[in-house]
Amino acid sequence: MSCCEKHPMNPWNHDVAKDEKDLVDVQVDGVWMQMPRGLNVVEVAHRAKKFIPHYCYHPKLSVVGNCRMCLFEMGTPKMGPDRKPVLGADGKPEIAWMPRPQIGCATNLTPGMGIRTDSPLVKDCRNGVMEFLLINHPLDCPICDQAGECKLQEYSVEYGTGASRFVENKVKKPKNVDLGERIVLDDERCILCSRCIRFSSEVMKDDVLGFVNRGSHSTLTAYPGKSFDNAYSLNTADICPVGALTSKDFRFQMRVWFLKETKSLCNSCGTGCNITIGSREGKVYRLTPRENESVNSQWMCDFGRLNFHDLESKNRLDRPLLKAAGQQFPATWTDAIQRAADALKKVKAEEIAVVASGRLTNEELFVLKRLLGELGVTQVDTVMNPGQADNFLRSGDGNPNSRGTELLGLSSGGRKLSAWSGEIASGKIKALLVLGGEELVAAGIPAETLGKLEVLIFSGILSNATSQLAHVVLPGAAFAEKTGSMVNVHGRLQRMTRAIPAPGEAREDWMILRDMRMALTGGNSLHSVEDVWKSMSAEIAQLTGLNWARIGDLGIQIESMDQQGLVKAG
Ligand code: SF4
Ligand code: SF4
Ligand code: FES
Repeated sequence: MSCCEKHPMNPWNHDVAKDEKDLVDVQVDGVWMQMPRGLNVVEVAHRAKKFIPHYCYHPKLSVVGNCRMCLFEMGTPKMGPDRKPVLGADGKPEIAWMPRPQIGCATNLTPGMGIRTDSPLVKDCRNGVMEFLLINHPLDCPICDQAGECKLQEYSVEYGTGASRFVENKVKKPKNVDLGERIVLDDERCILCSRCIRFSSEVMKDDVLGFVNRGSHSTLTAYPGKSFDNAYSLNTADICPVGALTSKDFRFQMRVWFLKETKSLCNSCGTGCNITIGSREGKVYRLTPRENESVNSQWMCDFGRLNFHDLESKNRLDRPLLKAAGQQFPATWTDAIQRAADALKKVKAEEIAVVASGRLTNEELFVLKRLLGELGVTQVDTVMNPGQADNFLRSGDGNPNSRGTELLGLSSGGRKLSAWSGEIASGKIKALLVLGGEELVAAGIPAETLGKLEVLIFSGILSNATSQLAHVVLPGAAFAEKTGSMVNVHGRLQRMTRAIPAPGEAREDWMILRDMRMALTGGNSLHSVEDVWKSMSAEIAQLTGLNWARIGDLGIQIESMDQQGLVKAG
């Protein structure tokens, strides 16, 4: 079975052996061990807790062997006149070392192989390669966005000579080249590793990048008349080992060493790509993919990556609002919750409808479920938010947690919701609680109809046509501002962690719903999101026996999917 069959998302998976159980003997820096046959030497060293520096090699792309940074000393078992390995005093084969170094990325493990990763010869080779790579490299580090996570910088410290013998003029190449809508190229910094070219052609099947000219004058470029703007182009800024490709959105915004890194999930579609949120002092600066072979490998789409600027939108709701004399005024949380509770108490349970949301976490949905159970409200549904599915990561579900709403029994797939317009108009529904910032006018309930409600309570992060009609507005927290779990479209339960505080007085929705529950029913046993999880895992069959630690950073498969919806994984 080829690697690609195991992981259709990647054409290669060099870090995964074809057969992890087919082990052979190998000597790494004098120590004998066993490793899977066929693994390349960079990966063998990695598993042996050694490091072979590399630029062009990437475990998810084809091997081209053009940077030569991964040179190592290689040996094979010494053969005696009888064509059998000569054994040393320790009973292990003696190694016959080759006089010239080999490249680790393109050398696969064979039985009895000897590997030296830090011999004098290897160190000399690395010094030489570094000197060559830096010959024409500009002294851009102080103004380069890659500083702090640049392999040239890191390897210069570890493996460079610290001085250059190059006294000639450097070759000048184009700077600030507009490669596409989201990516800028600095050709002077490019070390011609071709990772970006391979990502584009092998992973995205978009053959748009290539090298032109020869020798020191070789430059990366997009084919004439073409632009590098496929839906996953920003992944090249991640895998470019130097500062040649940078994101227009992130460049010059923040030094990377100042960023706090928080493990979370992209909330822009149902795939739930694993991400790292880079933030500083309460502001998110970038999202980058976090490796998870069960979800997104090492990639994420440009849409999801850039879809965080709403966190700082001018339309952000950051304090509770109450409507009086047709106008909304700022209020305290106590007053807003009390007003919402009083208004709901005045109508019967069957006159209340609730718009839950596939944007809420499982914990938030669970507190809502408790509240609705205690009130006896059964009219609950979600808004379907179709996404733009592609054949790679993007899902056709624009909600990150539709499966969570199904798991908790809070969705009818929009079927109930479609009848609510008429029921509001006829006075059958008198109160509507809208969660997750859902916009109901766009979802098919006209503003005049919403205007007929006796009570409209809205919770969300942005002001919209629905929030503007609400009698009570409760500002919620966005994805980067909350901790919780979600289930992706493939039935994988995953965790997200709060990276920054919500702005102003905005709160996580589980707290808003807990406070409403206290005001309406007096029910309270939920003091933290962990409390919510404990109660939820005790009640929901698919979560039985799971705790926060068991979900782990990479999530856990709790459901498999059939055509009809959720089924318990076998
Ligand atoms: S731009 Fe970056 S990824 Fe592309 S070839 Fe140059 S160094 Fe490699
Ligand atoms: S594919 Fe979906 S979950 Fe993944 S990064 Fe894109 S929008 Fe986010
Ligand atoms: S990493 Fe092996 S030649 Fe570049």
